[in-house]
Amino acid sequence: MTKYDTLVAKEQKSICNTYGRYPVSVARAKGSRLWDIDGKEYIDLLSGISVVNIGHCREDLVEVMTEQARKLVQVSNLFYQEEQVECAEKLLTTCGADRVFFCNSGAEANEAAIKLARRYMRTIKERDAYEIITLEGSFHGRTLATLTATGQAGPIKDGFAPLPEGFKYVPTGDIEALKAAITDKTAAIMIEMVQGEGGIKPLPAEYVKAIENLVAENDILLIVDEVQSGLCRTGKWWAHQHYGVTPHIFTSAKALANGLPMGAMLATEAIAKGFTPGSHATTFGGGALVAKVSSKVLDIMTEEKIADRAAEMGDFFITEALKIQKKFPEKINSVRGLGLMLGVELSFDGSEVFTQLRDKGFILNLTKGKILRLLPALTIDKKDLETFLKTLEELLSI
Ligand SMILES: Cc1ncc(COP(=O)(O)O)c(C=O)c1O
Repeated sequence: MTKYDTLVAKEQKSICNTYGRYPVSVARAKGSRLWDIDGKEYIDLLSGISVVNIGHCREDLVEVMTEQARKLVQVSNLFYQEEQVECAEKLLTTCGADRVFFCNSGAEANEAAIKLARRYMRTIKERDAYEIITLEGSFHGRTLATLTATGQAGPIKDGFAPLPEGFKYVPTGDIEALKAAITDKTAAIMIEMVQGEGGIKPLPAEYVKAIENLVAENDILLIVDEVQSGLCRTGKWWAHQHYGVTPHIFTSAKALANGLPMGAMLATEAIAKGFTPGSHATTFGGGALVAKVSSKVLDIMTEEKIADRAAEMGDFFITEALKIQKKFPEKINSVRGLGLMLGVELSFDGSEVFTQLRDKGFILNLTKGKILRLLPALTIDKKDLETFLKTLEELLSI
């Protein structure tokens, strides 16, 4: 029995059965490399699903982490904390928002966004507007409100009724449907600029412009979910910056502390007034340790021009992948993405290719059964992308 087999047998008796796991147990990591429990090496093209954006186990982050762990880890949000304010100030320099609410995950950040939109409408605008309109194919999280906001059917929602009221879905890209869905009960439209779980689908620029106009005409809010697309992933700090849009509220998590649990909801000054003491809170959010690490992550992203690097590597990948598509037009439907948020959509069931890639030492993701999704560290070596592309081409030529 391998170490892997022993671990799986133990897990099957101890952990809730919610994950369809890959048949790999990761023991350690460095940069864009993973090693499994039995010593096999992998090139990591997923970075913990867009979490470890500046690479695994960096010495500079380990130093900050250990130093802060000796000073203060967590004291609760009953107290002012220098580390939290420092992190908020740095985060605010990257975008058009004015205020931050820190939490622990993407779902929690989206919960905060939904709550703020409703409370702003009720308490500031004095309108009984609470409905949130989201797009079909979207993904916003797994808490009751965020799974309801998610524009997908299936196991994510099955068996959890009654779901919270006040959510509506419209087909992505259909501006007339969106217009028709807005009523005097609408508080906000919530979108991902690039649908991630939905299969790496950047929204068309003219559609986003039309949404912005609808939001202004109807005096409602625009919430952008940047949980996956944010923090340099798409070649800018935030994906909405490609579109020249300033959302009223946007959310972040995943890469915010490069692997430690950290989320944030950011809002403009006017909208943030919807929250007052007691209206929203969390025990862990923005604790000293995660906030200090996150500040360092933001420094590194700035100093190492990580967004530019993501844009450059993403362009390289797409150009090369399009060449492969040209060779095998019957096997690749499309190559798409923004920065290093990448999707290669096969024209057939991709499970075989996906398994072969993993056997050959590449960790990536397969969504919708045929989309190879890549979210590599933004610091990944160009050579690793080249090795992957070469291997993909070889597999498709068989
Ligand atoms: C766009 C988007 N929103 C929200 C979430 C939920 O984040 P979390 O798993 O941290 O709750 C995810 C997670 O994949 C996501 O991709």
